[in-house]
Amino acid sequence: MSRPAVVLVNHDPGSRMQLRERVAAVCPPGMEVLAAASTEEALGVLYSLREQHRQVELVIATQGMPGIPGGRFLEIVNAQFPGVGKILLSDKPSLEEAIYTLNNAGLDKYIPTPWDPEDVKFTITALLRQREMKLLNEKLLSDLQMRNQQLTTALVSLEQARSEMEHSYIQTVESLAIALEAKDRYTSGHSQRVSKFARLIARSLGLAKEEIEIVAQVALLHDIGKIGMLDKILNKPANLTPEEREAIKSHPVVGAQILAPVSTFSKHVAGIKHHHEMYDGSGYPDRLKGVEIPLHARIVSLADAFDAMTSTRPYRVGLPIEFAMQEMKRMAGIQFCPDCVDAFIRVLKTSGVAEEEPLDRPGPLPAGAPGAPRDDTPEDASGPFRDVDLPTGT
Ligand SMILES: [Fe+2]
Repeated sequence: MSRPAVVLVNHDPGSRMQLRERVAAVCPPGMEVLAAASTEEALGVLYSLREQHRQVELVIATQGMPGIPGGRFLEIVNAQFPGVGKILLSDKPSLEEAIYTLNNAGLDKYIPTPWDPEDVKFTITALLRQREMKLLNEKLLSDLQMRNQQLTTALVSLEQARSEMEHSYIQTVESLAIALEAKDRYTSGHSQRVSKFARLIARSLGLAKEEIEIVAQVALLHDIGKIGMLDKILNKPANLTPEEREAIKSHPVVGAQILAPVSTFSKHVAGIKHHHEMYDGSGYPDRLKGVEIPLHARIVSLADAFDAMTSTRPYRVGLPIEFAMQEMKRMAGIQFCPDCVDAFIRVLKTSGVAEEEPLDRPGPLPAGAPGAPRDDTPEDASGPFRDVDLPTGT
């Protein structure tokens, strides 16, 4: 590494030598002290050092010299070599001179003659130390900024990776939801319709826009926990065994477990887990009661039941919307949240969902077709739908 230097200029050979010895005595090891006999020569030394990429720590000039005086020389140094320490030794000190050079040459120290050797020594030591600390601080700051930059870059990469992973997981879940719909012609479009109804209920309840979107997404994914279940159990119209019933009843918890690892779904999990709770506390999985049941779950539960009532299933035809409204009112406070029922009834009465928003329900299958109603299909389609995911009569 190139040696740093101190440059001093004094036209008197004796004074120059004496000053050089004093400066060299207080400089740290490795520092070169260069002496020039004129300001012109000193400028040549400074330009030469710059070409060699050597650091100049300090320039010391005597004011009274032939040619360019020390103060003017330091003004040039200040302009051409920013950051270099500067000391002016004045043989004819005056306040005006001191103020002028301090203001215009960026002077670090103005020392009047006769010089006190101890003052010169102390000043040079302090200035070099000060500059060393300044350079160290600058290096530390630079290192810190570099590390901050590296950390920011690493965090951005990490966030990108997390985001990509989460996006991929969301796509997987959405694909699972679509696959689930495809399992059964009669549930085709069910989640989309439940989502549509849930959105209407949430809006009628006065929820914020962001909250309404979450409710709609919860509704879209509410039965995602059924994805691993056997089709023959899911589509069995009646007479489920106790084990089969328990398997179906596990789907809210399974669904919550599927979504729990993704932070995007952190606000969705509770709504999915509790969408089969009943307002009177008789539901599952936790037998929550009233407002203990998360609002998203209460909304989705009502939307789910409404679609189940008004859709055609293998064992019955869809019920009229008027009948479904009566049923929801009758079950308010028992199965459904009364506030949600009121909100939904308001929407159904005022906006006429059936007319304005096509429900896109599958029509009944022809008699004798696979999945068409059987002769022994239960006839109690007009009864309450205590559980929309368990076939009537089981
Ligand atoms: Fe369900």
